[in-house]
Amino acid sequence: MKDFKRTLITTALPYANGPVHIGHLAGVYVPADIYARYLRLRGKDVILIGGSDEHGVPITLKAKNEGITPQDVVDKYHGIIKKSFEDFGISFDVYSRTTTDTHYETASEFFKTLYEKGEFVEKTSEQFYDEANNQFLADRYITGTCPHCNSEGAYGDQCESCGTSLNATDLINPVSVISGNIPVLKETKHWYLPLDKYEDWLKQWILEDHKEWKPNVYGQCKSWLDSGLHPRAVTRDLNWGVPVPVEGAEGKVLYVWFDAPIGYISATKELTPDWEKYWKDEESKMVHFIGKDNIVFHCIIFPAMLKADGSYVLPENVPANEFLNLEGDKISTSRNWAVWLHEYLEEFPGKEDVLKYVLTANAPESKDNDFTWKDYQARNNNELVAVLGNFVNRALVLTNKYYKGVVPALGELNDTDRETLAEIASIREQVEKSLENYRFREALKFAMDLARLGNKYLADEEPWKVVKTDEERVKTIMNVCLQITANLAIVFEPFLPFTAEKLRSFLNVEGVNWEDLGRTDLLAAGHQINKPQLLFEKIEDSVIEAQVQKLLDTKKANEMAEAKAAPAKENIEFDDFTKMDIRVGTIIGAEKVAKTKKLLKLEVDTGIDTRTVVSGIAEYYKPEEIIGKQVSILVNLAPKKLRGIESQGMILMAEDADGSLKFVAPTDAVKNGSEVR
Ligand code: 2FM
Ligand code: ZN
Repeated sequence: MKDFKRTLITTALPYANGPVHIGHLAGVYVPADIYARYLRLRGKDVILIGGSDEHGVPITLKAKNEGITPQDVVDKYHGIIKKSFEDFGISFDVYSRTTTDTHYETASEFFKTLYEKGEFVEKTSEQFYDEANNQFLADRYITGTCPHCNSEGAYGDQCESCGTSLNATDLINPVSVISGNIPVLKETKHWYLPLDKYEDWLKQWILEDHKEWKPNVYGQCKSWLDSGLHPRAVTRDLNWGVPVPVEGAEGKVLYVWFDAPIGYISATKELTPDWEKYWKDEESKMVHFIGKDNIVFHCIIFPAMLKADGSYVLPENVPANEFLNLEGDKISTSRNWAVWLHEYLEEFPGKEDVLKYVLTANAPESKDNDFTWKDYQARNNNELVAVLGNFVNRALVLTNKYYKGVVPALGELNDTDRETLAEIASIREQVEKSLENYRFREALKFAMDLARLGNKYLADEEPWKVVKTDEERVKTIMNVCLQITANLAIVFEPFLPFTAEKLRSFLNVEGVNWEDLGRTDLLAAGHQINKPQLLFEKIEDSVIEAQVQKLLDTKKANEMAEAKAAPAKENIEFDDFTKMDIRVGTIIGAEKVAKTKKLLKLEVDTGIDTRTVVSGIAEYYKPEEIIGKQVSILVNLAPKKLRGIESQGMILMAEDADGSLKFVAPTDAVKNGSEVR
């Protein structure tokens, strides 16, 4: 493996049209942060770059729906996202955004350079145009009927019912989202990056020279390259984005996927005037952390852009992750199916490292994985509390108890001591190898093995028993335990930085150095440690149940929003309707019908008489809460015996999407007996 002088780590820029969730954290920011912290700990020159992606059509649509400007939308979410990352301790050297002046200049210059080098192909094509608003319509601004499944409301780029990718011109009865008008086709000119020109070079660079890339990344690249590359438009007719810096391009902006990766460069410029050493020196190792939906952009399109320019380094690796699902379903911003980071931070204060731990231990590195609250609880209680927290606590409490917190000297060693010390020494190589190869869950497991080793050593050596017979021996045992604890404070620094910091304060040590990992003399005899507090606390069932309930509520709300109303019945004549005698009445008595779950026996004052009605509403209303309620009642329905009770009429109910029933009643009180018509 080549030894680079410095490392440039980029993280996918999240769209600033919603907050960030656990899927973002697990797929991109936690692994990138681990990697950056690890390299910093080794004293390497490394920068971690992030920022918000603030262009693109969905942001303009959201702004339109909410009656605010796109700038308002991105200001709001950039703030929320940035704060979530800060609170989770993602150690960005810079977290920027793609609406800064620096970014506009950088992206504009990048385009101009390629334009002047003749790297683009200009093409005129017909696209939909809204004549009422004098504007071309982006694919997402056009809806119509899907030609494949006939669903209404398919977008110009995709039908969300059947998932088929579409061209806007495929839609049946296309309509402009902006005006509701039928759009017309009109010619427009755009600039294309001829990816086909880079196909051979990309095949060599990826398929031959980067066989070490993760199989999921390599495989996706291979499949793109095998099916042949075509020119891609890098400009759009839109008024939100970086203007195309070419004469005759008024009203056009750079395609969001052209300007977003350039955002990595702009952010580096904002970080340091020395930005070129990271971007333009062969001694720089660039690594892109992304999710699998971004692979083609970071492995094929952005490298082709960089290659077209010719002065930039290319990514050395792109360790893209697969997706994290939530309780068995795909995480979705629009369906609110997510654990939002800003909500987690509020509901689980001080538990940032717990979530990071769970997301790393269960990271979707080679396949999609599922986050469940039960697994979250189990990993907290059985691993963080029972293994790591328990070991550290016992080591520190016993040291305080036996030696008032002063590290005892190591005495004579027995075989177990020697084996244990040897294992401590071997941990560094294992963790390093995993981290260097972007296998973060494996690295975390090795780190956790050190705490397991400590627990096993304590359980085998039982200092609390030995103390009664051999005080010298206990000093050695406790010294070994303290050396393990000091090593834990180093090895967990990349993974659980808040926890590692606490450990350092318990141990009364400052700063850590990765090169010290594996040493068994980290704490000198005579060093004074502090009194510990608990590192982690058990999470109770009720806390987990509340989170699961929150998701169930979301699911129910989604189902209700999506449920389609039953189709209308066949037409009837007015006379058919007037045959029904519907009146407003008041419930004056109600009781459950014995041995049934669903039935209530009601006494209703109909204005004509008082009558008994048996109604199947017992699952939705308690007898005592409906007395005095006005309802609509069909009074000329032929009487019928139900459970031995004669029911004289029917109460009208509305059935909600989830099957629950609600009374149909006048909005203001009316005289009993009033006719409904
Ligand atoms: O998929 C996304 O969320 C994009 N906003 C990622 C952009 S990554 C980079 F190119 F900026
Ligand atoms: Zn469809």
